[in-house]
Amino acid sequence: MISATGARVPYLLTVVALSWIATEGRFTQTARQYACESVSFPFCNTSSSFHERVKDLISRLDLDEKIEQLGNTAPGLPRLGIPSYEWWQEALHGVANSPGVTFDGPIKAATSFPQPILTAASFNDTLFNSVAKVVSTEARAMYNSGQTGLTFWSPNVNIFRDPRWGRGQETPGEDPLLSSNYAANFVLGMQEDGAGGATHEDPVLRLKTSSCCKHFTAYDLENWQGVDRDHFDALVTKQDLEDTFNPPFKSCVQEGRASGFMCSYNRVNGVPACASYDLLTHTARNLWKFQGYIVSDCDAVYDMINDPKYAQTLEDAVGKALQAGMDLNCGRTIRDHGLSALNEGKFSEEDVDRALSNLMLVRMRLGLFDGPPESQKYGELGPQHVCTEEHQDLSLEVALQSVVLLKNDGQLLPLSNENVKSLAVVGPNADDRENKMLGNYAGDPCVYITPVDGLRRFVSNISYEPGCLTVSCEEDDFSNALAAASEADAVVIVVGLSQEEEREGFDRTSLLLPGNQQELVSSIAGVSTGHVVLVIMSGGPMDISFAKNDSRISSILWIGYPGQAGGLALAQIIFGWRNPGGKLPVTWYPESFTRVPMTDMHMRPNRSSGHPGRTYRFYVEEVVYQFGHGLSYTTFSHSFKSAPAVVLVPTLHDNLRSLVKDWTAYKNTSFQLEIDVRNDGSLKGDDVLMLYVTPPAGGGGCEGLPLRQLIAYQRVNLEAGADYTWNLQMNVYRDLSVVNPDGERVVIKGEYLLWVGEAQHSIMVTEVESHDTSVISFRPETVISNEKVLSL
Ligand SMILES: *[C@@H]1O[C@H](CO)[C@@H](O)[C@H](O)[C@H]1NC(C)=O
Ligand SMILES: *[C@@H]1O[C@H](CO)[C@@H](O)[C@H](O)[C@H]1NC(C)=O
Ligand SMILES: *[C@@H]1O[C@H](CO)[C@@H](O)[C@H](O)[C@H]1NC(C)=O
Ligand SMILES: *[C@@H]1O[C@H](CO)[C@@H](O)[C@H](O)[C@H]1NC(C)=O
Ligand SMILES: *[C@@H]1O[C@H](CO)[C@@H](O)[C@H](O)[C@H]1NC(C)=O
Ligand SMILES: *[C@@H]1O[C@H](CO)[C@@H](O)[C@H](O)[C@H]1NC(C)=O
Repeated sequence: MISATGARVPYLLTVVALSWIATEGRFTQTARQYACESVSFPFCNTSSSFHERVKDLISRLDLDEKIEQLGNTAPGLPRLGIPSYEWWQEALHGVANSPGVTFDGPIKAATSFPQPILTAASFNDTLFNSVAKVVSTEARAMYNSGQTGLTFWSPNVNIFRDPRWGRGQETPGEDPLLSSNYAANFVLGMQEDGAGGATHEDPVLRLKTSSCCKHFTAYDLENWQGVDRDHFDALVTKQDLEDTFNPPFKSCVQEGRASGFMCSYNRVNGVPACASYDLLTHTARNLWKFQGYIVSDCDAVYDMINDPKYAQTLEDAVGKALQAGMDLNCGRTIRDHGLSALNEGKFSEEDVDRALSNLMLVRMRLGLFDGPPESQKYGELGPQHVCTEEHQDLSLEVALQSVVLLKNDGQLLPLSNENVKSLAVVGPNADDRENKMLGNYAGDPCVYITPVDGLRRFVSNISYEPGCLTVSCEEDDFSNALAAASEADAVVIVVGLSQEEEREGFDRTSLLLPGNQQELVSSIAGVSTGHVVLVIMSGGPMDISFAKNDSRISSILWIGYPGQAGGLALAQIIFGWRNPGGKLPVTWYPESFTRVPMTDMHMRPNRSSGHPGRTYRFYVEEVVYQFGHGLSYTTFSHSFKSAPAVVLVPTLHDNLRSLVKDWTAYKNTSFQLEIDVRNDGSLKGDDVLMLYVTPPAGGGGCEGLPLRQLIAYQRVNLEAGADYTWNLQMNVYRDLSVVNPDGERVVIKGEYLLWVGEAQHSIMVTEVESHDTSVISFRPETVISNEKVLSL
C-alpha cells in the first residue's frame, strides 16, 4: 500500500504487493508472535491487571519507539523480548489472504463462507454468530501455527446505500436493524468474550480474536464519475447519520463490544472521518463507550492532504488524526512523519500514550504478552481444527439458508430426478475455477464446488456450455449453448457478476447484466423446451426485469457469492433437498435508479431534485424485487393473534412528540405482540417473520419519516401444516421511535401501522391523561390489549 519512501501507491497495487508477501515473502513472519517467553518484566506478569501491565510496558519505551508502534506493521522491541506484530488481518467470511495471514504454512486452507451479503439473506442472527465462531477457531489454529496475527479487520458493516457500490457484497445489506444485528453477532463470535462474562462496566476481558467494525462512517462509494473514496466528502444529514449510517457501528460497540474500529477514507461533512474528534472520540468513545483501538483505513491519514483546506502537510494530518482519537495508522504516515509532527507541536506525548495504551491493551487481551500459546486458552487448536467436516458443513448450511428464490411460476421448482434426466448448464458463472464464487477478501478454501459440480451430483447427463466465456460477455458465440439447451430436459443458466464488475475501488455504472448476458439468457429461453432456471451470482442487486417478465423463464434464484460449497447448496435447492428461505437484504432497483448521483448521500427522497430516495425505507418508485422478497416451495400465512390497540406513553412534549434520551429508562412503555404464522403448504420450510412499522401519517410535523421500518425479525422452521406464535416484547421508545431532522430520537403521537407479511394491525400511541406518572409505572395494564382502552 505504501512504498518505502512513504509515497502513495494506488490501492490496486496492494493486491500485487500482498501476493508478493504470500509468494516471495514465503512466510517472513516468524512463528513467534508473542512476547514474554518468561516473566522477565512486570508487563509479563499475568497476575497483574491488564492496565498495570500496559502502563509498565509503555513506561519502558522512548518516544521514537512509541511512535513506531503506531503503524500497522509494529516493529519488534528485542530488548524487551517483544516481536514485531502485524495488525492487518482480514476475515470477512473466513480467514482471508491479507498482510498478516499466510496460507503457506502447515495450514493450507480455511473454511470459506458465503459473502456477507448472502449470509445476511438468512436473517438468522444465530447463524451470523456461528460463522464467526468457526472463523475465530480457525484463526486461533492458524495463529498457533504461526500463520496469522489475531487482530482482524472484519466485519464491514457500512449500510449498502447505493446498489452500484463495488463493496456492497461485503456488507449485510441496506437495513439498519439487520446490519446492527449482524455486527453484534459477528463480533461476539469472533471475540467470544461475552462468554467470559464481560460487562459494560468491565469490558476488558480476554479475546479469542479481536474484531473490528469498519468503515466508520457514511462510506459506500469507491469511484463515481471520477470522484473517488479518497477525495469524497460525504455530505450527510444528522437524520441519515443517526437512523441509517451509524446504527450498525453503535450496535457493534454496545452489543458486540468490539475491540477494534476503523475510520473510513471519506470526509464526513468536510472532516476526514479519521480526523473527526466528533465521530471518534465524542461519538464512539464517549457516547457509545467504545473500548478498544481505532485504526485508520489504509492510507487514510496520508489522504488527508488531498484536501489542503484540511491538512497542508503530512505532519498536520498525523496531528489531526491522533488528536481526533485515532490510535493506529494503517500505512506509514505516522512512522515517517510522527516525530516531526510531534516536534512541530501537532500533538503531544499524551496523545501517543493514549493510542499506545489502547493498542497494547488489545494485544494483552489477546494473550500476546502471556508467553507461548500452547499453555493458554485455545492453545490446543491446530491444523486438525481447520476445514473440519463440521466447519465445512456450516459453510454449506449458510448458503442453503440464504439462497433467495425470486420467481417460481407454476411452482416449476424444485426439479425432480424423475422428470429431469438430462440437464444443460449455461453461463459464465456456472463453472468458474478461479475462486470467483468466493467474492473478495477470501482465503484459500478447503474445497470449491461450482454449480456444475453440484448439479452433477443430481444428474449425470450434464452438458456444460458457458455461452459467455467471461462475465463481461462481449463477442461470444452462443451456438453450443443453444444446442445443449434445446436438447436437455431442463436448463440452468448461471450468470451475473464477478470482481471484474464490482469490487473494491470499482463501482458499477449499470444494474443490468453485463455485456451480452441478457441476450444469452433470452435466446436460451427461446430454444429450451424444458424448465428454464435462471441463477444470478452477484453481490449487488441487478435489474433483471426482462427475466422477471419473461414467462419462458419460470424460476429465478439469487445466490450472492455463495462460498466454497455454493454450487452444492444451489443444486440441493434446485432438486428440492432443501426449501429456500433466504430474503433479499437489499432493494433490487430498476436501471433508471442510476440517474441518481452516487455522491448524493441523501436517504430521503427530494421532489425538487428528482431523487427517489434510497432503500425500502425511503425509495418511492417501482422496484424489480423489494427488500425482504424471497419465495419458498411452500406458503405461509400470518395473523396478529394479540396486540394492543392503544399504547400510552408519558405526557408528550409539545403535545406531539417526546424526546427519547435513553429508551431503557422507559421499560414501563413496553407492550406485547403475538403473531401467528402457519405453513399452509405441503412441504417443510423456513419463513422469515419480519415486523415492519409505518409511522403516523403526516409524521406529527416530523419530516423525513420512513415509509416503513423493519423493527424485528425472526426466522422459523415449520413442518407442513404447523404453526408458530411469535411473542414479542416491544417498547414504544425503542421500537416505534423515529429520528427527527435534528438527529434526535422522538416518539410521535398517532396511529402506527404494524405488519408481518399480509397481516396488519394499527396501534394508537397516545399520552397518559393523568400527569401522575406513577399510573404508568404501577399499572402494566395501561398497555391495553383486547382492542379497547381501559379507563384510568
Ligand atoms: C506478579 O504480580 C503479583 C500481583 O501484582 C505479585 O504479587 C507478584 O509478586 C508478581 N510476580 C512477579 C514474578 O513479579
Ligand atoms: C439458524 O441457524 C442455526 C445455525 O447456527 C440453526 O441451528 C437454526 O436452525 C437456524 N434457524 C432457522 C429457523 O433456520
Ligand atoms: C444425455 O442427454 C441428451 C439430451 O437429452 C441425450 O441426447 C443423450 O442421449 C443423453 N445421454 C445419455 C448417455 O443418456
Ligand atoms: C417488465 O414489465 C413491467 C410491467 O409490465 C414493465 O413496466 C417493464 O417495462 C418490463 N420490463 C422489461 C425489461 O421488459
Ligand atoms: C432538494 O433538492 C433541491 C434541488 O436540487 C435542493 O436545492 C434542496 O436543498 C434539496 N433538499 C434537501 C432537503 O436536500
Ligand atoms: C417509567 O419508568 C421510569 C424509570 O423506571 C420512571 O422514571 C418513570 O417515572 C416511569 N413512568 C413514566 C410515566 O415514565
